[in-house]
Amino acid sequence: YGTSRFNDYGHLTIGEVDVTHLAEKYGTPLYIYDVADIRQRAHDFKKAFETENVSYQVAYASKAFSCVAMFQLADELGLSLDVCSGGELYTALEAGFPVERIHFHGNNKTPDELEMAVEKQIGCIVVDNFTELTWLMAITEANKQSVDVLIRITPGVEAHTHEYISTGQEDSKFGFDLNSQQATKAIQMIMAHDHVKLLGVHSHIGSQIFKTEGFEHTVKEIYKSLSFWKEELDYEPDVLNVGGGFGIRYSTHDEPLPLGKYIEKTVQAAKQEADSRGMKVPEIWIEPGRAMVGEAGTTMYSIGSRKEIPTLRTYLSVDGGMTDNIRPALYQAEYEAVVANKGNEPEEELVSIAGRCCESGDMLIWDLKIPHTVPGDLLAVSSTGAYGYAMASNYNRMLRPAVVFVEDGHHECVIEREQYEDLVRKESRYSRINPVLK
Ligand code: LLP
Repeated sequence: YGTSRFNDYGHLTIGEVDVTHLAEKYGTPLYIYDVADIRQRAHDFKKAFETENVSYQVAYASKAFSCVAMFQLADELGLSLDVCSGGELYTALEAGFPVERIHFHGNNKTPDELEMAVEKQIGCIVVDNFTELTWLMAITEANKQSVDVLIRITPGVEAHTHEYISTGQEDSKFGFDLNSQQATKAIQMIMAHDHVKLLGVHSHIGSQIFKTEGFEHTVKEIYKSLSFWKEELDYEPDVLNVGGGFGIRYSTHDEPLPLGKYIEKTVQAAKQEADSRGMKVPEIWIEPGRAMVGEAGTTMYSIGSRKEIPTLRTYLSVDGGMTDNIRPALYQAEYEAVVANKGNEPEEELVSIAGRCCESGDMLIWDLKIPHTVPGDLLAVSSTGAYGYAMASNYNRMLRPAVVFVEDGHHECVIEREQYEDLVRKESRYSRINPVLK
């Protein structure tokens, strides 16, 4: 999908912009987003639904990367938006994202957040549990407003990368349990309520999934319950949301499917199940986060110090690390990188890339083959667009990097780099420090 390549000077370009210029202008570390890549992915998801001739919504799971500009882009691309906190909702509203296309998730939405969502009349709330349902009923009654909801169910399928496990029962903090009839009870409660309207059901089975079987199996599992609800409650959903989790390429070991493949197989499974049970085919909704922005993002670092342990390893340290990408430390996630200003030089040195936090676990890449580098060379780590900036922190009082969007030779900073002053902006001195004892 992406537009990144080396030019004749051996400089990496993304969106036809030489990234060494970006490093000079905006500093490092720097997150660079290839906007064309995001556009293409949104297009491919939508195209696949249109080919299957089914009503749909593609909701961008904003937890992967959210900011005002990203929400504007998602809107322009005709996407809906999955938000999972008041903060994401607030940012979407600030971006002017159409409220009717916002879906609100979370296993512990606060009453204030629910109130905000109801007041703003967002598209739907994905109801996760009885506590929240009760609050929502009270809020809508008090406000004399109505709200559409999906109920999140746990279908007992857990999918990750190449495998899925059908546990039958899921030990998860999210959603209503199917086996214990909790979901049935929730549906009955909603059907009997005047202000909370049941649009359909939602499930999310995992992340970084490389096969379609997990989704197909989930649809089949869900249909067992759907046909029971049709018989018992005369209820049929208008919407079936199968969540996100579509896998991307972090390294050459990963072989993701074309995005349309997941849609094709999932929709076909839903059609088949619906037809064989004499039910209508619902709208199919998905919620890709990683698959929308993951590969579009590249993080640029400046290389700094070098430590050589003879015969063992060479550590190259960069000017960022776990504060801008926690995924290697947290999930042992693997990334690949190139030296962005030395594309014409042979990859002759084996190094390991360390972050600069005071923590041994702050390693970004083990055993990377790159050209010989000197301090000041630029390292570009690919596929950092999802859960990178989104999970960034100020650990060690590091400053969050800037974010730039590039496309067709154009570059634009959409999030400024934090400054030292930002670190103490919310802080105050303690009034009981006694100057005499100091
Ligand atoms: N929908 C729901 C309800 C979710 O919980 C998630 C992710 C998504 C959609 C989007 O999943 P995606 O398409 O991005 O895989 N921090 C972790 C990922 C956590 C995902 C949580 N939920 C990571 O860096 O891998």
